[in-house]
Amino acid sequence: MIKPYLRDFKPYPPGKPISELKRELGLEGPIIKLASNENPFGPPPSALKALVEAAPELNRYPDPAAYELRQALASRYGVEPEEIVLGNGSNEILDLLVKACLLPGEEALMSEPSFLMYEKFVTAAGGKAVKVPLKDFHHDLPGLARRITEKTRLIFLDNPHNPTGSIISQKEFETWYEGLPEGLIVVIDEAYGEFVNDPQVLKPLLFKDSSPPVVLLRTFSKAYGLAGLRLGYGIMREELASVLNAIRQPFNVNTLAQVAAQAALKDEAYLKKVLETTWAERERLTKALGDFGFNPHPSQANFILVDLGRPARPLYEALLKKGVIVRSMEAYGFPHCLRISIGTPEENEIFLAKLKEVLSEG
Ligand SMILES: Cc1ncc(COP(=O)(O)O)c(C=O)c1O
Repeated sequence: MIKPYLRDFKPYPPGKPISELKRELGLEGPIIKLASNENPFGPPPSALKALVEAAPELNRYPDPAAYELRQALASRYGVEPEEIVLGNGSNEILDLLVKACLLPGEEALMSEPSFLMYEKFVTAAGGKAVKVPLKDFHHDLPGLARRITEKTRLIFLDNPHNPTGSIISQKEFETWYEGLPEGLIVVIDEAYGEFVNDPQVLKPLLFKDSSPPVVLLRTFSKAYGLAGLRLGYGIMREELASVLNAIRQPFNVNTLAQVAAQAALKDEAYLKKVLETTWAERERLTKALGDFGFNPHPSQANFILVDLGRPARPLYEALLKKGVIVRSMEAYGFPHCLRISIGTPEENEIFLAKLKEVLSEG
């Protein structure tokens, strides 16, 4: 018997793959995908080298404890390796947190909209996703606090927020956190954390050992350019980490992901290039979108949510026909907005040129 609450489940709506668009529209020229907040610079060359070197060992199972990678992350963050959980993308850590902490009928709080997977994992586990609308395109922390009940077990906060790119500041969080009851866990999802250059941003690890506990999530999918390998991690107090590590699949992080991530972590030149280019291009694109008469929301991530002030679908489709894939935001409840991932300078140039063409064609 399928569980009744799973009958209406819809699959996650991923950004359109390049191959699908080529097939559908018979497009020949280059296609630019600015839809899934991926790293456009390719994986770190150091990681590719490590993959090739590790390939002859692929007949063996991976190290289930990922000893070396956890050591490297622990020294990077100044935490104990036992406080780290690795997952098949940070998606898996979200799933594990829900499995570990939420009984059927219990509640998880999140903003509306937010990263769509929070609600999915909670509902799939028989929990209740309680959604609080954003306020001025920011997490409404007081609004979230008002919805806490004795059944609330988890609060998910993406910081920067997807899809607006807004952030929670340390100051704003401190005030809010002081008023929280015990019995729940606050999950700060920093999938885009490396792209933040506002020094006011929340530092979640300061609250790791306080009550209620705060969990930090990060990923190698974005700034480290390894989305296809699927590797994310959570940093949390040992008591919780040991439960997540006990319930996960033993080989959830494959050998190639482990070695590539270790190489990527050491590759400071790669990260520097990615971040510096993204910051410069974020500023340039935000300005250019404003010059077109649109309202781009200030972003601390590698994407920009732009409000067109009218239904966005026609522009989304016109761009598709020109070979530019951006993300339509209907599924997030922003039908007037598009989310544009920041590409390479060359890709952004083409995007702006195609946008100009589409707008002049009326
Ligand atoms: C806010 C947020 N959290 C988590 C993820 C999941 O990242 P991954 O599973 O690739 O680590 C994403 C992916 O787009 C995201 O936008």
